[in-house]
Amino acid sequence: MVDPTSLVDDSVTADSFNLSNPEFWIAPRDYREGAFRSLRNAEGLRFYDEWLFEDSPFPPGAGYWSLVRHEDVWFASRNPQLFISGKGSSIQDLPMEMAEFFGSMIAMDDPRHFRLRSIVSKGFTPKEINRVEEYVHLKAATLVDSLLERFPDGECDFVNEIAAPLPLQIICEMMGIPASDEQQLFQWTNTILGAGDPDFGGTIEALMAAAMGMYSYAQALGEECLKNPTDDLSSIMMHAEVDGERLTSQEFGSFFILLVVAGNETTRNAISQGLRALTQYPDQRDIWFNDFEGNTKTAVDEIVRWATPVIHFRRTATEDVVINGTKVAAGDKVVLWYNSANRDETVWTNPYEFDVRRPLQPQQAGFGAGGPHFCLGANLARREIAVMFDEIRRRLPNLRATGEPDYLQSNFINGVKRLPCAWK
Ligand code: HEM
Repeated sequence: MVDPTSLVDDSVTADSFNLSNPEFWIAPRDYREGAFRSLRNAEGLRFYDEWLFEDSPFPPGAGYWSLVRHEDVWFASRNPQLFISGKGSSIQDLPMEMAEFFGSMIAMDDPRHFRLRSIVSKGFTPKEINRVEEYVHLKAATLVDSLLERFPDGECDFVNEIAAPLPLQIICEMMGIPASDEQQLFQWTNTILGAGDPDFGGTIEALMAAAMGMYSYAQALGEECLKNPTDDLSSIMMHAEVDGERLTSQEFGSFFILLVVAGNETTRNAISQGLRALTQYPDQRDIWFNDFEGNTKTAVDEIVRWATPVIHFRRTATEDVVINGTKVAAGDKVVLWYNSANRDETVWTNPYEFDVRRPLQPQQAGFGAGGPHFCLGANLARREIAVMFDEIRRRLPNLRATGEPDYLQSNFINGVKRLPCAWK
């Protein structure tokens, strides 16, 4: 059992750190938790200048306001006319074509966002998700079979062997991508999201090359679906019509990047951090595993709250607005820190405790805090997490993390690169 007070360094004061400094994101976790707590308790909002990245071709922008309280993140997320995404969803300003190229609908506002979301949602209906569930079971079982066969000593890297392949295989299956191309897609997504981490070859050139590779791949896939339709998600999307309009192959290319990256790099971190949490809190593991059906709904959402795999998204204010006593001017950027909303002690009882029976209200902000961009894949991700832990519970009941996670250096993805585990 972990003492919750050891998870937050209470000595950190609100003006003693800079969220823009990349070093902040490799500081010890208790320090970072302490920093966000100090911001939640401080008066008003803090403004941060943007960092000058030596290797970036883009100059730093004008800075951003930090929304750290649950209430403020909620407010910005649910008022999309006041806080738009169409000027970019990452802190750094990218040329608009590039923001859309990478972000697709996450960097758009209505009516364009609505049109695109209406088309692609056809692949995420409850019927589609039920259809995929069968496949999720099969993949989870096959991964465990392979683990038992290849690691007779009962030890391996959990991320590489379980947490990363599952979502990747599911998204590839849904999109109709052959298994032989999975590894290539995996490398592209790692490079795109690991842009700040040297382990993943984190240069801007590598990022662009990976994005272009994925984009061309998707365009070819989309065109093939038009010629030879099947029943996979790519075909559904390429043939779907809203008001007589279909996706162009460019739109499909960008959406494909968003979907593959969003589907992979988030769920795998939830699963990895889920295993770590269940190892650190064996009482919670027993509660969940002893009544799996009864507790799955809350346990899965607690894992997503605990891990908060996506740390932030950005919006831009369209009018002057006062948040928590601070005036945010039209045109200012605001950053929604989901990690902080998910630890806000004014809405969560004992936020630094991992509690698989935590009530589902208030809504945890791991999938976003509501509004038009709320995670399209939330139900799919929930199923993947539930099915994987069900498989673990039944087939590897002693599975546990045996060391510290090796974290990704990023202010965007709360990623785990490696997590040693054992099951004997
Ligand atoms: C635990 C896993 C996941 C987490 C934590 C997560 C988190 C998020 C967050 C925070 C957002 C932004 C919400 C907002 O701005 O209001 C988002 C959007 C999105 N997510 Fe997820 N996600 C996960 C899994 C998935 C999966 C499995 C898929 C698809 C296969 C997916 C597809 C998307 C898409 C397409 C969007 C953009 C929606 C829009 O702009 O309308 N996500 N996700």
